[in-house]
Amino acid sequence: MTASHDLLVIANRLPVSAEEHADGTTAWNRSPGGLVSALEPVLREHDAVWIGWSGRFAPDPYSTEDLGRELEPLPDDVGPCALSEVELGRDELEGFYEGFSNSTIWPLYHDAIATPVYHRHHWEPYVAVNRRFARRAAELAAEGATVWVHDYQLQLVPQMLREMRPDLRIGFFLHIPFPPEELFLQLPWRKQIIEGLLGSDLVGFHTPGGAANFLRITGRLLGLDFDETGVDVPDSSRASGVRRVTVGAFPISIDTREYDAMARTAEIHDRAIEIREKLGNPRWVILGVDRLDYTKGIDVRLKAFTELLEGGTIEPGEAVFVQIATPSRENVEDYQRLRDEIELMVGRALGDHGLIGAPPIQYLHQPFDRETLVSFYLAADVMLVTPYRDGMNLVCKEYVASRTDGTGALVLSEFAGAAVELTDAFLVNPYDAEGVKQALVDAMRDDPADLSMRMKAMREHLFEHDVARWAASFLDALEESEQNR
Ligand code: ADP
Ligand code: F6P
Repeated sequence: MTASHDLLVIANRLPVSAEEHADGTTAWNRSPGGLVSALEPVLREHDAVWIGWSGRFAPDPYSTEDLGRELEPLPDDVGPCALSEVELGRDELEGFYEGFSNSTIWPLYHDAIATPVYHRHHWEPYVAVNRRFARRAAELAAEGATVWVHDYQLQLVPQMLREMRPDLRIGFFLHIPFPPEELFLQLPWRKQIIEGLLGSDLVGFHTPGGAANFLRITGRLLGLDFDETGVDVPDSSRASGVRRVTVGAFPISIDTREYDAMARTAEIHDRAIEIREKLGNPRWVILGVDRLDYTKGIDVRLKAFTELLEGGTIEPGEAVFVQIATPSRENVEDYQRLRDEIELMVGRALGDHGLIGAPPIQYLHQPFDRETLVSFYLAADVMLVTPYRDGMNLVCKEYVASRTDGTGALVLSEFAGAAVELTDAFLVNPYDAEGVKQALVDAMRDDPADLSMRMKAMREHLFEHDVARWAASFLDALEESEQNR
């Protein structure tokens, strides 16, 4: 690839991940998570290159000279746009991905639900890998190109890239929450992270709260002048002596029309009916769909459902709770512990409340294709989305977009970014066990006319605020921010 690209997207993961088989063949699967779900439809419409990791490893022990030597090139026909693979060594991945990204930043930015660890030997690979991503973008970007950097794994890239290529227009979007200063200031490398992000022309968050936290921290840590729209960073190369970094909220979304269209097909309808039949045609199908992550509050739902069974509010056989949990970050200790905890809870509930041939809970620790997920959305009377903290949460939006006839009920945590928009959901505090139980009962027993009013209002919102609008508003703001240089 040559330095000819006008739009570059940089994210830790490519939209497809390699599954290498023992016989030497490789299957390419869609990568997990909301970032890929959101960006994929957007990039189908742009002539862009996506820089990221494919899930394959460079040979160990890792050395720069080894890069690119032993991996087969990516096939041309996978992914929504051109792909450029950044290679990582196995050891390096441990420090950069399992370590700093997912044992430090992820828990710290999610209210420290799990205790963040602060290891110097994680920080060094984080810096090294960020530099590698920045170098790749510097190599591939045309003069004056737009580079859109994504998420918490790559917070140093904007500054590194600006130093390498000051001609570029750089936007950064964070797909997870940005924490308040009381938490952020714990981070030993807090200044480096803020300075890294301030290499951007535009820094975007899901919610105004995240943007405000970031702005306040730039003032507190670096003593910079900020207002509600951005911050002035000293820059001696400019006549004004400052460079303006625009900061704002850009709530991410889904391709609403695509989910709506999928949910209207006869095939998906039939599969939804089949799912209900296989579940024993209960009066209520209740659904949870998440990566198996401790931020998602899967335990909250299991507890609420089990207590309602125990207390007799839900009769055996009357309702089935289906929890789909995609395997995620399986080498990280907190995720291993979570899996044990969830599977213990499911096992206990089944032991205590199962009927022969009619288990009240179905637990599926598997990825599914989108059509199957939409069939589940269509089969579910109540969707439970109860994260302790979530940047946005796309699953709840996908559920709403799939409810084409306006039926169904969404129980949604106040601490998901989506709660700012989907105010017609049954909003709950996931820490309030009685409140969650009550919301579930309300959602199950609500009057159909009220349910329909709520669902229609949420659907209207999502048709207007879809992912194309999100991407356009970010890229327009990036262009404007650059004009104000
Ligand atoms: P996160 O980015 O933290 O994983 P989101 O709710 O924003 O959370 O996005 C999750 C995305 O992953 C959604 O697009 C959802 O459809 C998809 N997804 C969730 N569970 C599964 C699964 N079991 N199989 C395939 N895709 C899944
Ligand atoms: O924003 C959430 C996120 O961390 C994305 O960065 C990522 O694509 C997704 O969840 C899945 O996580 P992972 O790439 O660690 O499997």
